[in-house]
Amino acid sequence: EKGRLLFAGPVTFVKGVVAMSGLPPADRLEVCFAGRSNVGKSSLINALTGRKTLARASNTPGRTQEINFFALGGDHHAPSEHKYLVDLPGYGYAEAPVAIVAKWQALLKQYLQGRQTLRRAFVLIDTRHGVKSVDEDILTLLDRSAVPYQAVLTKADKVSTTERDATIEQVKAALNRHPAAYPELVVTSSEKGDGIETLRSIIATLE
Ligand code: GTP
Ligand code: MG
Repeated sequence: EKGRLLFAGPVTFVKGVVAMSGLPPADRLEVCFAGRSNVGKSSLINALTGRKTLARASNTPGRTQEINFFALGGDHHAPSEHKYLVDLPGYGYAEAPVAIVAKWQALLKQYLQGRQTLRRAFVLIDTRHGVKSVDEDILTLLDRSAVPYQAVLTKADKVSTTERDATIEQVKAALNRHPAAYPELVVTSSEKGDGIETLRSIIATLE
């Protein structure tokens, strides 16, 4: 079906952006992946696209240091038929100099508040940790910026079902305080593939 078709085509890396002035033209819908450093944003993009090394993932928090644009369906097709997947730098702790991290954070906030074609922000939450105060800050920023957003649990393979259920309850309670959030919570494992097809069809059906 639609999800499989969109994700079955070519995927290309378009560019890494370090300032708002470098954003590619806003000529197609895009979705972005936000979340704390190391939560699994880049790995999720790799799992969705079926490319192990498209987005650079690593165990070092602060790996992704630019806003990286990936074109689904390739970059040479009619923009109206295709979408961008956007990998963001993480927030919270990162193994990088403070001044540099502050620069990414400013860019991240500008992007989340100022990108017209951003159709959904996925806010990734580690299933082991649940919603932390830095996540709350991003949810509040998204409330104010009127960007539709949805929480996604990551690394579900790392916990027991009991732990997973406890985190689901904690996240749902946090989302109740953010009525702008989509109530549906997608539980994923990039490692095992859980939730990946669900997320693909959510992205594919956005218009
Ligand atoms: P930054 O770019 O630093 O903000 O990190 P990120 O959010 O992009 O995380 P990344 O995808 O680089 O993953 C961080 C680490 O978690 C890597 O070592 C991944 O292999 C691991 N990881 C990511 N997703 C999963 C998952 O679903 N299951 C397991 N077991 N490990 C995962
Ligand atoms: Mg990353």
